[in-house]
Amino acid sequence: MSSDALEANQLNLQRSYELLARAEGLIPGVSQTFSKAPSQLVHGVAPVFLERGKGAHVWDVDGNEYIDLPTSLGPIVLGHDDPDVTEAVVKQVSQGTIFSLSHPIELDVAERVVDAIPCAEMVRFGKNGSDATSAAVRVARAYTGRSVVAACGYHGWQDWYIGTTTRSIGVPDEVSRLTATFSFNDIGSLEAVFDRNPGDVACVILEPVGVVEPEPEFLQGVSELCKKHGAVLVFDEVLTGFRVAYGGAQERYGVTPDLACFAKAIANGYPLSVVTGRRDIMEMFDDIFFSFTFGGEAVSLAAARATMDKMRREPVIDHLWKQGAKLQDGYNSLAAEFGIEAVTKCIGLPPRTVCTFTDAVTGEDDLVLRSIVQQELVRRGVLFMVGFNTSYALSDDDVSQTLDAIRAAMPVLARAIDSGEATRFLNGPPVQPVFRQA
Ligand SMILES: Cc1ncc(COP(=O)(O)O)c(C=O)c1O
Repeated sequence: MSSDALEANQLNLQRSYELLARAEGLIPGVSQTFSKAPSQLVHGVAPVFLERGKGAHVWDVDGNEYIDLPTSLGPIVLGHDDPDVTEAVVKQVSQGTIFSLSHPIELDVAERVVDAIPCAEMVRFGKNGSDATSAAVRVARAYTGRSVVAACGYHGWQDWYIGTTTRSIGVPDEVSRLTATFSFNDIGSLEAVFDRNPGDVACVILEPVGVVEPEPEFLQGVSELCKKHGAVLVFDEVLTGFRVAYGGAQERYGVTPDLACFAKAIANGYPLSVVTGRRDIMEMFDDIFFSFTFGGEAVSLAAARATMDKMRREPVIDHLWKQGAKLQDGYNSLAAEFGIEAVTKCIGLPPRTVCTFTDAVTGEDDLVLRSIVQQELVRRGVLFMVGFNTSYALSDDDVSQTLDAIRAAMPVLARAIDSGEATRFLNGPPVQPVFRQA
């Protein structure tokens, strides 16, 4: 530990690190999700295992309490153990979880999806976001009789997408070659994909909004290009769905895709995903193969029905925006107050923001600086990974405690930047990128 490290780690994390030692050699990567792995937190400073959540708070295995701002990468949109969702889940569990035939709750949730989502005419369910995006790609290929996928953004772990990333090992080149990437807000880059693959683009799949808003006409332009070339337009709303608006980003921006994928927030933390869209395309699900044992599992569907009903009944989405805006504005004002607004910013739509840290010399993402902020927030009881995913349970008190913690972290960050040796301000190794930088 360096002499510039400001304070000794005040948290007792003994059990977390005992469990880490047990997990190493047993669970590759020590996590089921890359973005939740120990490599995403400052070793020795942050906990490795969480075991309990209530509302907007979580507790680690040593009993330390944190305000939960990653919200499990987005699913916990109402709060942990939300009373309405828990009641629905417990009731369903007591009646059975999965059956040998379909359960009527599938219809209840499908009807709610059709009611909520502009493009939705028919609905199928999966468990992970990747199930839904892969289903959309397969059905689009079947519908068009074409092979090439044009992709922009992150879409999950499956071959057709991950083959385009720096973690493509294990994916045959023949498969990777069938996916072409294009850039957000750059309609020319999508035109180039169509030009390079005349008559062979099955679908265009993109996140309709990430941390950058679509420029006026961008989504419309994508939609028009798809129509012109006969490709299926798929909005990947796994992150934006039931978070930026009840009807997703397609409602917010007024552009309706042919198909859309939802997961994460739809069931407040239970595993459910949705692929939905135009009837004539969705009907092709009768012919393709999209089928798995847990597809109609009723507990997650009960959670989704309760989550959606609560969103309809109560001002959930407004709250996500309101609390998110306070965190975002507070973060950016504090960065300005400490003179480091050129280095760090909180960007994105308020329900889901990302804090960026930019190396002044290279202009690249600076993981050491991000690690310093994470370290300083975690030791002050705020769990922070890359930004703020707000929940309905996040109270005004939680927001002001988080802003207090940010106010305490900013001078440490400013001193680290000034020193030119930021790593000396860290009490452990910095977080690692999930995807290697190109
Ligand atoms: C936009 C988007 N699409 C797809 C996925 C994949 O979802 P899952 O990890 O549930 O398979 C994610 C996950 O983070 C995502 O953010």
